[in-house]
Amino acid sequence: GFGCPGYYASIRGTASDEKLRRVPKIGMHIVLLGPPGAGKGTQASILAEHFDVAHVASGDLFRKHLGESTELGQLAKGYMDKGDLVPDDVTISMVLDRLTYSDASSGYVLDGFPRTLNQAKALDGALIESGATVDVAPLIIVSPEELVRRLSGRWICKGCQSPYHEVSAPPNQAGTCDLCGAGLYQRDDDKSDVVRSRLDTYESQTSPLIEYYENQGKLVKIDGQRDVDDVTQGLISALGR
Ligand code: AP5
Ligand code: MG
Ligand code: ZN
Repeated sequence: GFGCPGYYASIRGTASDEKLRRVPKIGMHIVLLGPPGAGKGTQASILAEHFDVAHVASGDLFRKHLGESTELGQLAKGYMDKGDLVPDDVTISMVLDRLTYSDASSGYVLDGFPRTLNQAKALDGALIESGATVDVAPLIIVSPEELVRRLSGRWICKGCQSPYHEVSAPPNQAGTCDLCGAGLYQRDDDKSDVVRSRLDTYESQTSPLIEYYENQGKLVKIDGQRDVDDVTQGLISALGR
């Protein structure tokens, strides 16, 4: 598992590359895959806490820009409102920059990135430069009906963006985040017509990543249609293989 010293040597592959050998960078680099509403955000935040690594969510970064009315936020909004992907160039530079923050130095759980083959290749390139690699890419599998149910009942914290669900994951106190006490709101893109478009976008542009990580031997399929705790247990055992 991750606590085992031999683990990193084994997953890093051959040591024939001098650079990899001279700059050993220990860290956990997880790519959480799954359609909108699968529970990526829910699980990524639990895993990041559990393994003491950063939770980096591209959607959360865009929404933060939106909230601060930055130029990038304005640009992203046009795509997000339609359920389309924000263009690769701005997305890649935003996320790769975030990965250089000190809280990500011992690793990260990526949530919502990469979402295109270009993004996946850019991530691999950045990791290779630092002598690391994506360790595991768990795919959280949930039926389309359940995805729609989850998204239509979702509420998000205005402060820390933690997700709640009015039926299956209500906050302790109605309308208030358990973690930071801020108020909850519903995302504009959780309206049913945009949800449909986000699911289509996932199928056409993101699902090819399943094969990409499968070919690298990094894909692990996780049944996401269980209680949050059971999904977490499934993920933790997949990461510790
Ligand atoms: P993003 O914010 O990443 O949205 P998404 O991928 O559509 O995923 P969601 O956040 O909707 O779902 P989730 O899997 O995180 O589920 P959650 O844990 O909240 O992206 C938004 C937009 O930004 C994109 O459409 C795009 O425009 C842009 N964007 C972002 N990244 C981009 C990129 N890399 N490239 C280009 N554009 C990008 O859970 C959902 C609900 O279910 C919650 O209510 C939760 O409480 C509940 N729930 C979770 N787990 C369970 C469970 N086990 N049982 C019951 N309920 C559960
Ligand atoms: Mg999310
Ligand atoms: Zn909060």
